[in-house]
Amino acid sequence: MTTTALDFARRNQPRFLEGLKTLLRIPSVSTDPDHREDVRRAAEHIAAELTHIGLENVHLIETTGTSPTAHPLVYADWLHAPDAPTVLFYGHYDVQPPDPLDEWLSPPFEPTERDGNLYARGAVDDKGQMFMHIKAVESLFAAHGSLPLNVRFLIEGEEEVGGEGIAAYVATKPANLAADFCIVSDTSMFAPGLPTLCIGLRGMIYTEIEVRSARVDLHSGYGGAAPNSFNALAHILAKIKDESGRILIPGILDTVQPPAEDELRSWRSLPFNEDEFRESVLGCQAIVGDARFSVFERLWAQPTFDVHGIPGGFTGVGAKTVIPAKATAKASMRLAPNMTAADTFRRFREYVQQICPLGVSVEVRLIHSAEPSLIPVDNPWIRASASAMTEVWGRETVFVRTGGSIPIVGDLQRHLSLPCVMMGFGLADDNLHAPNEKFSIHNFHLGIESILRFLERASTLRPDRHA
Ligand code: BES
Ligand code: MN
Ligand code: MN
Repeated sequence: MTTTALDFARRNQPRFLEGLKTLLRIPSVSTDPDHREDVRRAAEHIAAELTHIGLENVHLIETTGTSPTAHPLVYADWLHAPDAPTVLFYGHYDVQPPDPLDEWLSPPFEPTERDGNLYARGAVDDKGQMFMHIKAVESLFAAHGSLPLNVRFLIEGEEEVGGEGIAAYVATKPANLAADFCIVSDTSMFAPGLPTLCIGLRGMIYTEIEVRSARVDLHSGYGGAAPNSFNALAHILAKIKDESGRILIPGILDTVQPPAEDELRSWRSLPFNEDEFRESVLGCQAIVGDARFSVFERLWAQPTFDVHGIPGGFTGVGAKTVIPAKATAKASMRLAPNMTAADTFRRFREYVQQICPLGVSVEVRLIHSAEPSLIPVDNPWIRASASAMTEVWGRETVFVRTGGSIPIVGDLQRHLSLPCVMMGFGLADDNLHAPNEKFSIHNFHLGIESILRFLERASTLRPDRHA
């Protein structure tokens, strides 16, 4: 049975790739209200695809709220394998904005093949990876006329803007998502050709800090006596971490759960060259951060703080001598295991108030948040996935974490007690969220094979339905 589904997937490689290109042509940028209709079109396109491959009960679920970044969920299922387990596939069809546009070698929404890669916004994050799930299920259907296990799909359009809609759905309708395990393909391989399971994600609080220094903008001849919102904002931002990168917000570091000794040991045996990582992935002059921790601990197991943008003030051509009355910054913290978004935000806001310079007022708003997650590895689904990938890639599967976040993973664990299997096939140089995002075409096809083989193994496991 394995061979036929696999044969189907191999024979259909060119068609699968063309199907992905069609999806990538839809600019489903979730944060941009101008793309609202495109985001919906992407959802409808996926729904049609799920119907076409033989899934049932296919529908869009409108997310609650009127926010311009509320976008529908796509749901589908096939539940006719009574004694077999049920898998929940999670992915997201929304993408990050493509700017800066002039740095793309080919347009972001015109998928283009170069050097064995497919270039487009969303190629790897996450349309290309989510599409692998659909094509794996299509191959199983085509080979058997039915499926060896029960499947549900839940694909969201708000992941890149915090995933509020799916969080509310998972919290209120857990029965609609009953499953034995979940597959997420939205992470990367540790190195090319090295099969990787991701077993930890950081959480996040995404915030906006607004400083007001006066009723109205002032002539900068008042400088020296008048407070300046931008200067004050800079002071605040500079006090959140010290120069070594250590977070200075009281109480934050005390709550962090350090990785266990054997996980740290496994990280030390990963094939890793710091200098090569600095040069080829970060493209920077020096790796920064708290030197008491290894680079992996800094990326995967410690909190951090980063500023994303500071709009406003005078940025036009020439010069304008003004003291802007208002300055804002978008800034976020990544949360390490055991930190909670609510507690971190409360401490963050209190600290910012406390360090606010004389003469200005500051307001801190939470835009979205996600809890960190650690995946228990001692279960048959993780073992089946690791073996399936080892079989496909011919190398022992490694277990890593990622510094990024996938908000729903924590919720699936908390509300549904669902073991998540994060089998991702991106690469470190895929330019996620940046110009020239790509997905290795080889990884796309072997990813489909990995998922196929995992599903076939998983279908032979008996579900453990403890109430
Ligand atoms: N796929 C990424 C998460 C990721 C990043 C995995 C890097 C592996 C390596 C996901 O789409 C993402 O970008 N998540 C956001 C979530 C946030 C908006 C809450 C992130 O991490 O910034
Ligand atoms: Mn993603
Ligand atoms: Mn992303």
